[in-house]
Amino acid sequence: MASFKNVYESWKKNQIQFWKIQSEDIVWKTKPSKILDDTNAPFYKWFPEATLNTSYNAIDRHVIAGRGEQDAIIYDSPITNVKRKISYSQLQYQVSQFAGALLNQGVKKGDRVIIYMPMIPEAIVSMLACARIGAVHSVVFGGFASNELAIRIDDCKPKIIISASCGHEPNKIIEYKPLLNKAIEIAKHKVNKCIIFQRDALKVDLDTNQDIDWFDAIKDVPLANPIEVSATDPLYILYTSGTTGKPKGVVRDNGGHAVSLKWSMKNIYNVEVGDVYWAASDIGWVVGHSYIVYAPLFHGCTTVLFEGKPIGTPDAGTFWRIISEYKVKVLFTAPTALRAIKKDDPDGKFIKNFDLTNFKTLFLAGERADPDTVLWLENKLKIPVIDNWWQTETGWPIAANPLGIEILPIKIGSPTLAMPGYDVQVLSEHGTEVSPGTLGAVAIKLPLPPGSFPTLWNADNRYIESYLSTFPGYYETGDAGYQDEDGYLYIMSRTDDVINVAGHRLSTGAMEEAVSNHADVAECAVVGVLDNLKGQVPLGLVCLNNGCNKTNEVVCKEIIDLVRAQIGPVAAFKSVAVVSALPKTRSGKILRATIRKIVDKVDWEMPATVDNPLVFDEIRDAIKPLGY
Ligand code: COA
Ligand code: AMP
Repeated sequence: MASFKNVYESWKKNQIQFWKIQSEDIVWKTKPSKILDDTNAPFYKWFPEATLNTSYNAIDRHVIAGRGEQDAIIYDSPITNVKRKISYSQLQYQVSQFAGALLNQGVKKGDRVIIYMPMIPEAIVSMLACARIGAVHSVVFGGFASNELAIRIDDCKPKIIISASCGHEPNKIIEYKPLLNKAIEIAKHKVNKCIIFQRDALKVDLDTNQDIDWFDAIKDVPLANPIEVSATDPLYILYTSGTTGKPKGVVRDNGGHAVSLKWSMKNIYNVEVGDVYWAASDIGWVVGHSYIVYAPLFHGCTTVLFEGKPIGTPDAGTFWRIISEYKVKVLFTAPTALRAIKKDDPDGKFIKNFDLTNFKTLFLAGERADPDTVLWLENKLKIPVIDNWWQTETGWPIAANPLGIEILPIKIGSPTLAMPGYDVQVLSEHGTEVSPGTLGAVAIKLPLPPGSFPTLWNADNRYIESYLSTFPGYYETGDAGYQDEDGYLYIMSRTDDVINVAGHRLSTGAMEEAVSNHADVAECAVVGVLDNLKGQVPLGLVCLNNGCNKTNEVVCKEIIDLVRAQIGPVAAFKSVAVVSALPKTRSGKILRATIRKIVDKVDWEMPATVDNPLVFDEIRDAIKPLGY
């Protein structure tokens, strides 16, 4: 058996040869003759002259190989009491049919299609149908409000939007249509076609000038065959939070994406063709794109699509019930989901109710895997609990424990080692490598591997400015951390204004922009503070304009409602306090890091350059009623 050290060294010695070998696992229309084009660095192109179709690799190749009867998708929705299995042959039919519907609506190769849908199989069908005809999908998470959807519409200018009548959250129905209509109204780019999937719980009135019912759209259309696209053509755009209110449109190409995800399934997650693989995430996030939809299907696995929550749908045993019922081999989820389960069922009583013999490994990602939760899981499940670290930008793990090659010693708190493709270095602010154990900026030497983003949508300059300019020759991850003597990575925090709320990546900058839109707010600061369940939650501090005649309570409630309306419920923005001034340096920079330390009750020192030291006492008093 190969050792991971040898595999990593073989990549380091000759990355071209390494990816050439991995590319042989993909069905190409035109095989790659050239592996990497670096003539226009830092805009690298993987497999530049090759062609393929992503949906063919996800579906047709398995049907042709005789596995058409195998389940491709198991949909389990405890929230609506619906279960459904879709075989690879059925998926092939549904995707070809919906791709035909898109063609029929005039969608062509390269056109953008926004998918604003809940966790239903039709969302996956929509994504794969776009891939089939070379259209570029952009999935928008259902927990974002109209304004966020409108920002994405204006940025990627879709030809059509695919949506549903509603989503289901515990004890409430989320009506998508009013959110969608409002977004279309706000957006400057005019979208005049939407395909709407009407769910049983809510049938909505369709606007005949704009909306087409899903079933009308697919009626009598010819099935669409997969078309040939270039490996470097975009497959999707996924918006993610950055420092400002304008999200970054991360672009994913077709060829590198297929090669890297396929490699990761065996080598990192250790699954085989036919295994049941479950990523309990949402298709609106990168984990959902990569590990609910594309990777398990590229690998010929059965993927589980779960519409529910770890607790309350109906209880903290739901995850274990699904694992047992469908013989899930690997579960991949965010630590926050398991913290929720642990909180409701600290003794793991539900775990004992189910036969989990097929369950081999639990993978965690999306936020730091806190040792308490990992230890609890190891103790209750008696299987390896594996942390892996990555980002929307990379599309697949930067650091992991490569179970399919060998299981490396687990060090709790570390996502283990950098994977082939990633030369990870921890740098000082001057760009020099720091010694083991020293905290620094985590950076990756260019080029990034196949599957990682080649650029930002229509924003090459922003790509360079945001990621490549601080440390020339490196990609700046935005994470701070350190490596130990054995090269194990420890990812500790962000170096920017991104926070991680229940595994969801959000921008405090975007929240500050929303808060500032309130007429009575003179200035504000939003920081991410520690939360036992969600990891972090946002907290706002606001200074009000002179002459504001509302009570603080009323203004705070209005601000909370405003953030919910502008960004969405997913922001979980529920705490605001009014203060007379914000702490600032003499040059006017708000001391957000110090605010965070005060709220988190960790040691802090009065910054030497602080302009108004008394304000810290006021902050302490103001946040007390909020429970801090
Ligand atoms: N559509 C509409 N609204 C949504 C939504 C969606 N797809 N997803 C979440 N929301 C809403 C929720 O209803 C909630 O609204 P509320 O303020 O009215 O209660 C709000 O957004 C926050 O939701 P959530 O973050 O899910 O918090 P929660 O308190 O409802 O549940 C957890 C807490 C930990 C159980 C839940 O966050 C969870 O399961 N997290 C796992 C996240 C995950 O898998 N991340 C993927 C990264 S790998
Ligand atoms: P996203 O792009 O939404 O996947 O969020 C990526 C960010 O989440 C990373 O930059 C990290 O800050 C954080 N993150 C993801 N996985 C981990 C992990 N395993 N450990 C620590 N932080 C993580």
